[in-house]
Amino acid sequence: MNAINRLTAVISLASLLPLSALAAETGTVEVLHWWTSGGEAKAVETLKEQVKKDGFVWKDNAVAGGGGAAAMTVLKTRAISGNPPAAAQIKGPDIQDWGALGLLTDLDDVAKANNWDALLPAKVADIMKYDGNYVAVPVNIHRVNWLWINPQVFQKAGAKVPTTLDEFFVAADQLKAAGFVPLAHGGQPWQDSTVFEDLVLSILGPKGYHAAFVELDEKTLTSDKMVEVFTTLKRVGTYMDANRAGRDWNIAAAEVINGKAGMQIMGDWAKSEWTAAGKVAGKDYECVPFPGTQGSFAYNIDSLAMFKLKKEEDIKAQADLAKIALEPAFQTVFNQNKGSLPVRQDMDMSAFDACTQKSAVDFKDAEKGDGLQPSMAHNMATTLAVQGAIFDVVTNFLNNPSADPTKATAQLVSAIKSAK
Ligand code: GAL
Repeated sequence: MNAINRLTAVISLASLLPLSALAAETGTVEVLHWWTSGGEAKAVETLKEQVKKDGFVWKDNAVAGGGGAAAMTVLKTRAISGNPPAAAQIKGPDIQDWGALGLLTDLDDVAKANNWDALLPAKVADIMKYDGNYVAVPVNIHRVNWLWINPQVFQKAGAKVPTTLDEFFVAADQLKAAGFVPLAHGGQPWQDSTVFEDLVLSILGPKGYHAAFVELDEKTLTSDKMVEVFTTLKRVGTYMDANRAGRDWNIAAAEVINGKAGMQIMGDWAKSEWTAAGKVAGKDYECVPFPGTQGSFAYNIDSLAMFKLKKEEDIKAQADLAKIALEPAFQTVFNQNKGSLPVRQDMDMSAFDACTQKSAVDFKDAEKGDGLQPSMAHNMATTLAVQGAIFDVVTNFLNNPSADPTKATAQLVSAIKSAK
């Protein structure tokens, strides 16, 4: 076939397609997120591929920076200038704030057609709705209260996997004595507060955690138990290496993976790095609930909130993204790469590794009582303003060896009050 004939064939094939299909092919969906580590980028790739398969164009807007503070700054600037992306990773109570600004679009048609109300736990569905309408789609459930362990390092140090805080310090001392970094950590506010919230969950229990971070109850925030949390945080800090300032969480994870460090306190996106490095859960690494938080599950649900768009074809691309996000095939492969649980409740868990299977069981158990709690450090428990106030107090405390735990609790209360 010569060039002219080929062109004629393409044109006549195109004329057979309905106009809507032609238009849909050009629809673009721009997604703003902060999944830039090796493992997380692989997870995003699975979403990208599916969007492309459906005939749409994926425009990646990846803003590096764990925990998403930098991504949120970019999003605000874009929104203020009247040019928001089609979708952005926005979580928890923040979805309500963006909804109240009138910028989010109604996804109820996609939700009804795909039965979201039946697929999602009611608690999760509520977070995704503004004024009764879906404006965001959840992709997963992360658990924050995990401790990641390199068993080879533990073996060399003669250490035992800890289940209590006392055992944690015994193991940390043994790792230190054997020449390892006991606790890999990145000195960034959200990482410091991830450790802090795990300690609150461990020392105050799930009810106390709720009183502190959801109710922002002054008595709880200044209680003896909270003083104990700060005292323990200071002690935990002595097992982190001195050069941690600014270190990304995935670099800290790599230190455990490579056998330089023994442990990391981090949510289960850390597993995405182990998976990307070809390591097997239960063999090359151990995941255990953060000591003293067995039975509790601090959840962090990633979700894509959708903005109002003008172009018909882009609206179709956006609806396609929303639909894909909850399809079983995507839920499996995305979450296998991301380290999280599928958010759909009807999934076959046999395709997941030991850590995620354990997480699924623990989620169901925690759901029955008070154990299921929203993560403060990951925007699920409170507003970004209050969260920022807590971050400041915690990070200043952790970086100041002479800081006083009792004073820190008072600072926590006043910082929260001025942020409210
Ligand atoms: C969390 C987010 C996770 C992971 C983590 C590290 O806020 O929910 O998906 O990306 O930050 O960046």
